[in-house]
Amino acid sequence: MIVLGIESSCDETAVALVKDKKEVLSSIVASQIDVHKEFGGVVPEVASRIHVENISYCIEAALKEANCTMEDVDVVAVTKGPGLIGCLHVGVQAAKALAFAYHKPLVPVHHLAAHIYANELVVEMKYPLLALVVSGGNTELVYMKDETSFEILGETQDDAIGEAYDKVARVLGLGYPGGPKIDKMAKEGKPVYELAKPKTQGRYDFSFSGLKSSVLQFTKRMERQGQTYDLNDLACSFQECALDEIFSRIHFALDDHPEIEHFVVGGGVSANSRLREKVEELKKEYPNITFTVPPMSCCTDNAGMIAVAGTIAYRSGRRADDSLTADASWEI
Ligand code: KG4
Repeated sequence: MIVLGIESSCDETAVALVKDKKEVLSSIVASQIDVHKEFGGVVPEVASRIHVENISYCIEAALKEANCTMEDVDVVAVTKGPGLIGCLHVGVQAAKALAFAYHKPLVPVHHLAAHIYANELVVEMKYPLLALVVSGGNTELVYMKDETSFEILGETQDDAIGEAYDKVARVLGLGYPGGPKIDKMAKEGKPVYELAKPKTQGRYDFSFSGLKSSVLQFTKRMERQGQTYDLNDLACSFQECALDEIFSRIHFALDDHPEIEHFVVGGGVSANSRLREKVEELKKEYPNITFTVPPMSCCTDNAGMIAVAGTIAYRSGRRADDSLTADASWEI
C-alpha cells in the first residue's frame, strides 16, 4: 500500500510517499528556516504564505522522486493538527483536492502521533510503549498500551523544550533555531552556573519558562555587576537543567509502569547530542526495555512520518470526507 503524506503544521512544507509503512519512496522537505531566521522565530502569516507557494511543487517532486503517478497512490494522509492554523489549512486543502480529484481515501493524521510513529520507519514498535515527544511546539510523555491508544501522562505547563532552547539562544544572541547552537556550545562548557529548577504540580509534567527567565536574569545580573561569564558554561548549565527535568519524568514513568516494553523519542529536540547520551545511559539502567532514538531525518518535521501514521490510521478504519478541516489544537 502506497500512502502519500502531506505535512504543513509549522515551517516545513513536506510531502512523502511511503510503501507499506516501512519503505520511503520519496521525502521532500521545503524548510523555511532561512526566512524565519530574520525574525528570530516562526511568523505564522509568513509561514502560511510560503506553504501556499511550495505545496504544489513538493507534491510534484515527491511523485517524481518516487517514480509514481497519483494512480499508484492508495491513500492520501495529511496533518489535521495541532499546529499553526493557517499553515495546517494549506496542507489539508491540498490533500482534499488530491483525494477527491483522484478518488483516493483521505486520512487525517495527528502531528504528535506521527512523531511517535516515525520510529516505525526504523524499528518494529512494541507495546506497551512510552514515547517522549520533544520539539519546538511539544513536550509530552505519552503512554501507548497498544498501537492506536494514546494517554498523555505529562506535558509542558508553559513553553515547549525546543521553544525554551530557541528563546534562551535569542537572549544569548545566537540566532534561530537556537537548539543546535546551544547543543554545540554546551559540549565546550561545564554546568557551573546555578539556575532556577523548574517546578510543576503533576508527577510527569514539565515546565521550562522559569528556567528560561532564570537565564535572562542571570545575564542581566552579571551585566549589572560588571562581571563576565562564560557563554559555553551558561549554555551547558541551561541544557543540564532542561534535560534533568525531562529525564526525571522519564524515570518516574518507567518505574511506575514496569510493563513498558519500548521507549521511543520523536521531535526536533531529539537531535540533541546530550539527550541521546542520556538515553544511552537509560538503556543500561533498564536492560529489559528497547530504546529507540531515530535518525535526524525522521525526528524533525517530515511527511514520511505522516504517511506512516496515515497507514496505521487507514488500517484502523479512519477516513475523512470533504468536510475535513484543520484543527490547531486537535487532541490526540
Ligand atoms: O520537530 P521540529 O523540527 O519542529 C517543530 O517544532 O515541530 O523541532 C524544531 C525544534 C527547534 O526548537 C530547534 O531549536 C530544536 O528542535 N532543535 C534542537 C536541536 N536541533 C533542533 N534542540 C536542541 N538540540 C538540538 N541539537
